[in-house]
Amino acid sequence: MPNNHRLLLTTRPAGIPRPANFTTDTVPARAPGPGEALLETRYLSIDPAMRSWMSEGTGYQQGIPLGEMMRGGGIARVVESRAEGFAPGDLVQARLGWQTHPTIAGRYLQKIDLSLGSVEDWIGPLGLSAVTAYFGLRDIGALRPGDRVLVSAAAGGVGQIAVQIARIEGCRVAGIAGGAAKCAFVGGELGAHAAIDYKAEPDLAAAIGRACPEGIDLYFDNVGGPTLDAALAHLRAGARVVLCGRISQTLAAEPYGIRNLNRLAAAHGRMQGFLVFDYHDRYDEARAWLAARRRDGSLRQKLHVLEGLAQAPVGLGMLFRGENTGKLVVRVAS
Ligand SMILES: NC(=O)c1ccc[n+]([C@@H]2O[C@H](COP(=O)([O-])OP(=O)(O)OC[C@H]3O[C@@H](n4cnc5c(N)ncnc54)[C@H](OP(=O)(O)O)[C@@H]3O)[C@@H](O)[C@H]2O)c1
Repeated sequence: MPNNHRLLLTTRPAGIPRPANFTTDTVPARAPGPGEALLETRYLSIDPAMRSWMSEGTGYQQGIPLGEMMRGGGIARVVESRAEGFAPGDLVQARLGWQTHPTIAGRYLQKIDLSLGSVEDWIGPLGLSAVTAYFGLRDIGALRPGDRVLVSAAAGGVGQIAVQIARIEGCRVAGIAGGAAKCAFVGGELGAHAAIDYKAEPDLAAAIGRACPEGIDLYFDNVGGPTLDAALAHLRAGARVVLCGRISQTLAAEPYGIRNLNRLAAAHGRMQGFLVFDYHDRYDEARAWLAARRRDGSLRQKLHVLEGLAQAPVGLGMLFRGENTGKLVVRVAS
């Protein structure tokens, strides 16, 4: 049996997660029992929601007990199988945890279809971040061609796909991101019509006004707080505000009080949150659409790849410092 290297959560972070919150632990991988498969982890997805799992009983999932392995999803290769329908060499998607060699029941594994895209596509533009952008824009945001769309954290995993879906659907898109390099990526590679560097703008609401001179029909919000407030000031009649995430508030000592809700009322607008898991039964629909756009070349993808399991805690901290460009993943094995 190979060794299974794991990362255990051993202390709760006070702010941004740090490698010191985790301890490395090595145990022999567990031989698969009936119905199970032994896997080798290839990629782990690093997501802002993981920070909330590190706290005690907050967020939309139970906090991870101290001393237990960190949760996390990704893609793995089947090494040995006693699970019907899975053979060595198959590539699967699952809640793997931060470990190199998980042993998991077959009912929790989903085989990935390489005719839709590569392994890197499955962790990126066919992965859950991309699926989040798809349902957030379409089902919650009721995206229509010609909409004036604004996306925050536009250079990130969810944001880069949201910008591109809106652009592909014939919308006018502006993206908000931190720093000149990210804005060049949003306005260049992603094809947004305008990019706003919120870190360089003393008055974000005014900057949004310049970038979206006709206002906003759909705001796809990844950050919450003052950015959401500034966007609300520019809503057009019938606007939709999609609450996808609120990363600016995750670590805030005091929640930011939104001031511009009157603008939502004046616009006869609506604001709605969602969780991608609500759409579990429709992931295939999103993936078919996204894969077709990958094939025709209209959907691009920037993966920010960190090498080795030990980098997973480093990566989680990077999300909260804005140090990632694109979808952040850890390559555990090639
Ligand atoms: N609803 C759902 O089911 C669902 C599913 C997945 C993700 N999400 C949410 O979607 C959002 C994006 O997730 P992701 O995985 O794609 O992460 P990401 O955008 O790739 O990375 C996070 C980005 O957030 C920005 N950021 C960090 N701190 C900030 C702050 N204080 N103020 C403003 N921006 C800040 C940084 O970009 P800049 O450098 O541009 O600031 C950073 O790169 C998160 O809020 C996440 O929780 C929701």
